[in-house]
Amino acid sequence: MISLEKAKKPIKGDIFVPGDKSISHRSIMFGALANGTTEITGFLESADCLSTIDCFKKMGIQIEHSIKPTNGVPTITVHGCGLNGLKTPATTLYTGNSGTTTRLMSGILAAQSFDSTITGDSSIEKRPMERIMKPLKQMGADIFSVNGNGCAPLHINGGKILHGISYRSPVASAQVKSSIVLAGLYASGKTLVYEPALSRNHTEIMLSAFGADIHNEIATDGSAVTVLNPGMPLSGTKINVPGDISSAAYFIAAALVVPGSELLIRNVGVNKTRTGIITVLKQMGADITLLNLDESQESRADILVKYSDLHGNENNIFEIGGKDIPTMIDELPVVAVIAATAGCTTIIKNAAELRVKESNRIETVVDGLKSMGCDIEATEDGMIIRGGNPLHGADLSSHNDHRLAMSFAIAALAAEGTTRILDETSVGISYPTFFKDLQRLI
Ligand code: S3P
Repeated sequence: MISLEKAKKPIKGDIFVPGDKSISHRSIMFGALANGTTEITGFLESADCLSTIDCFKKMGIQIEHSIKPTNGVPTITVHGCGLNGLKTPATTLYTGNSGTTTRLMSGILAAQSFDSTITGDSSIEKRPMERIMKPLKQMGADIFSVNGNGCAPLHINGGKILHGISYRSPVASAQVKSSIVLAGLYASGKTLVYEPALSRNHTEIMLSAFGADIHNEIATDGSAVTVLNPGMPLSGTKINVPGDISSAAYFIAAALVVPGSELLIRNVGVNKTRTGIITVLKQMGADITLLNLDESQESRADILVKYSDLHGNENNIFEIGGKDIPTMIDELPVVAVIAATAGCTTIIKNAAELRVKESNRIETVVDGLKSMGCDIEATEDGMIIRGGNPLHGADLSSHNDHRLAMSFAIAALAAEGTTRILDETSVGISYPTFFKDLQRLI
């Protein structure tokens, strides 16, 4: 349990946040499937990404952690084995709490010559896997839920010949898209994945850098399409992982809920499929500026955020929905915290996906903020937050969900009295040093 008090002074200064989780996972996976070595700097050493490393080590991939003698930078070297070099794992592949590891790796496993079983912790064993099993089966894979409930453990019978498909995903999900694309690397013919709105496109950008023929298009009906032409070998490369905007989001929020704050968050990934939080907060009146923008490959910038009064439209309502949702899906819990302190009503809609994240984030966010005095209600596909009620400290559970623990910590900075967060160690999933970094600023 951790106790936090209301912030006594504005949040000032600057901070670096750890590496992007999505890019870190992919750097290991794609590095493993490439020929030659991949050198990764800025890798996120959190529980989720270490699960990915562990799984690939179990399939014979050599992965080394070192400090570069030339510049003292921690580096991870992945010795790739090419598309067909993975070895049969001796045991079940355990993915911990990581949905990205589970779903992306299933796409890879579907195309291997060997059989495998993959599972994770109790949260992973409740999350929907039908969304990847259905398209993978259409490609010719033999994958099934061991307990027949559409969830992990998943068993994959190897040795199947896969063929490319044109698949319309009902949800904008980078995990679904990437799982299909990774199986598509081994398939005969093109693979196309349509999604209602473009989800994060790290797989497309990074696989291109490894040599794959893959790109995004916009279809005539407005949906996003990812097109993969298989057959190109992947070659090891160098990856410098930018800071994770999903981690930066907690500090953006801290500066917006504590009056007088001004904070510079350095070297953050600002790929446009991830920056919905900045777009939306600026529309609400937040003073946020991107400095030192570098748009080569995965864009990065320093984010300067100054405390601002946030507002809605002429009726004092602000709606968040539609194509913005996939670009800020992981940030919605902390956006709800910001909305609780804003002087308007915020309506979050089209976000039913929140119900199938590490926890049911519609229910868990609403319960937590309600117990702090916020006027908030859950809807089928989001929440309505009538901001401006004074918040007070409370005893909150993170439900072992890292993003809840960090969101409630930010709410605590704006709440009178003491807030206690149970299971706060869940931050280790994506941001092990979160509380240390926060303490330095408050
Ligand atoms: C991720 C995609 C998102 C996100 C998750 C990481 C990824 O999930 O919520 O934290 O790295 O591809 P969905 O694709 O299921 O929306």
